[in-house]
Amino acid sequence: MIAIGSDHGGYALKQEILKHLEEKGIDYIDCGCFSTDSVDYPDIAEAVCANITDGSCEKGILLCGTGIGISMAANKIRGIRAALCHSEFDAKMCREHNDANVMCLGGRTTGPNIALEMVDLYLNTDFGGDRHQRRVDKIMAIESK
Ligand code: RB5
Repeated sequence: MIAIGSDHGGYALKQEILKHLEEKGIDYIDCGCFSTDSVDYPDIAEAVCANITDGSCEKGILLCGTGIGISMAANKIRGIRAALCHSEFDAKMCREHNDANVMCLGGRTTGPNIALEMVDLYLNTDFGGDRHQRRVDKIMAIESK
């Protein structure tokens, strides 16, 4: 199960991603927004990330206009490692090296074709562990300082 959400700036791309997930038979929780009416991206980041931190979902996808604001908000939440991605390489590496549990996309910066490729890579790439685990552990230790 994955959690997904966007503000109005990411709404159109989110709808494309939802269609893609349905075609692939991947279950998701859509945390909004549900129209192009203006909403505040930190509220959506909190709603998606709550599903990850309570264990209901393993991974999340967040979208806003650029992906910047929503990634900033998500990374303030304990336990979240949100990666703003612009390429297939980013989507693969954020899993392999950083064990990202949220991928952030910009609805106004990333086209639908590449976004769907990125979603597949993000969902299907395993964390590399080993030296990357040590580095991720150091990221998470910053939260308790
Ligand atoms: C909303 O207009 C816009 O600021 C938001 O979608 C996002 O790009 C913020 O980082």
